Amino acid sequence: MAGRDGKVIGVISAKGGVGKTAVALNLSLSLMRDFGKKVLAIDAHTISPNMSLYLGIIDVIPPGLLYALRDPEVAGESVYIHSSTGLHLLSGSLTSVKEVDLSNLGEVVNSLRGDYDFIIIDTAPSLGDSLRHILKACDQVLLVVNPWLPIVVTNLKAIKIAEEMKTPLKVVLNKVGRSREEMSVKEVEDSLGHRVAATIPVDLEIYRGVEERKPVMLSNPRSPGSSAIRKLAKMLVSEV
Ligand SMILES: Nc1ncnc2c1ncn2[C@@H]1O[C@H](COP(=O)(O)OP(=O)(O)OP(=O)(O)O)[C@@H](O)[C@H]1O
Ligand SMILES: [Mg+2]
Repeated sequence: MAGRDGKVIGVISAKGGVGKTAVALNLSLSLMRDFGKKVLAIDAHTISPNMSLYLGIIDVIPPGLLYALRDPEVAGESVYIHSSTGLHLLSGSLTSVKEVDLSNLGEVVNSLRGDYDFIIIDTAPSLGDSLRHILKACDQVLLVVNPWLPIVVTNLKAIKIAEEMKTPLKVVLNKVGRSREEMSVKEVEDSLGHRVAATIPVDLEIYRGVEERKPVMLSNPRSPGSSAIRKLAKMLVSEV
């Protein structure tokens, strides 16, 4: 199966709860189902790797990412295949409380990219070493923000670090339309000095999908949130 040249895309933010996992997971599913791409999702939020929970995997899955980081050359042996969606997944541990060093993440993705069209990496909110390791491993990152001042302002630091590391970045504005007081797209763009590449509305179906452990892209593929994430997937596919 080698011979592909997987694009490695990180989903980052300096802030928690902005929708990184919802975007990373549903984007992965859309790339697979709507665009026929072979996708590996890496849950590199090693403190609370929620992707498997959001997928409804309730039995404990092997912490494949930890094995892969230990021995990147054979990372493929640790990939878990989710039976009902077919999504390939490398996840941290749901139970271990040990801090995980992501400095080998670049080696892990390089050993796997030949097997995939896209490698999507979900991440923890960070402005520290783990963010730098992720930026180094990725071909580009999606910076997820919400149209709220503290989130936008804190993410100026994430942009600064991505620019230092020379990793291309797209701003994804999630949870749009929650209140009249929120920032407009233009205000977000002016504050960040980057144009907004994709907007995703606040959508109860995304929230419901998480709570019911049935990702919205599968349970309600036509909801406004799903459509917006599919549009983002289409943009990424068109760039390859
Ligand atoms: N567009 C949206 N509309 C409505 N709810 C959303 C939307 N995006 C995310 N959510 C909800 O917001 C909450 C946080 O989402 P998510 O877990 O994806 O954030 P996160 O950035 O990954 O958080 P963490 O930093 O803790 O990993 C979840 O309850 C999710 O269902
Ligand atoms: Mg998350």
